[in-house]
Amino acid sequence: GKYVISFELNGSKVEVDVEPDTPLLWVVRDTLGLTGTKFGCGMGLCGACTVHLNGQPIRSCSMPISAISEQSITTIEGIGSDSALHPVQQAWIEESVPQCGYCQSGQIMSATALLQQNPTPSLQEIKYFMAGNICRCGTYPKIQKAILKAAA
Ligand code: FES
Repeated sequence: GKYVISFELNGSKVEVDVEPDTPLLWVVRDTLGLTGTKFGCGMGLCGACTVHLNGQPIRSCSMPISAISEQSITTIEGIGSDSALHPVQQAWIEESVPQCGYCQSGQIMSATALLQQNPTPSLQEIKYFMAGNICRCGTYPKIQKAILKAAA
């Protein structure tokens, strides 16, 4: 049967009526129409689908909607504002990080979570924290440089 669940998405309360085992990724993309969060592997292995759950990075492809009732979700659409990019987004532009771009919203969501926890990470700490976000284009050096820039 269907299942009504409410949660906070990018600062606004939303209600959806979906099967309880529906992955959060598909609720965000298909039910709510926010397509910045990407489907990569669907198995929690690549990080393309990264969003924040109460400020912590999670893999939305592997998170059933039933698990986030009354919790707070932030997607790539929710980290900046119309008038001001998030400092991580600004650094991403300045360092021309993306190549194909597909993994980059997940990369940025992990990077913003890292800087919330650790505002001045070392290169080693960045590499360790970001290790779960895969980039097939190999933009890792630019990602690391942009995070260091955003932290400075
Ligand atoms: Fe979720 Fe790859 S699509 S981790």
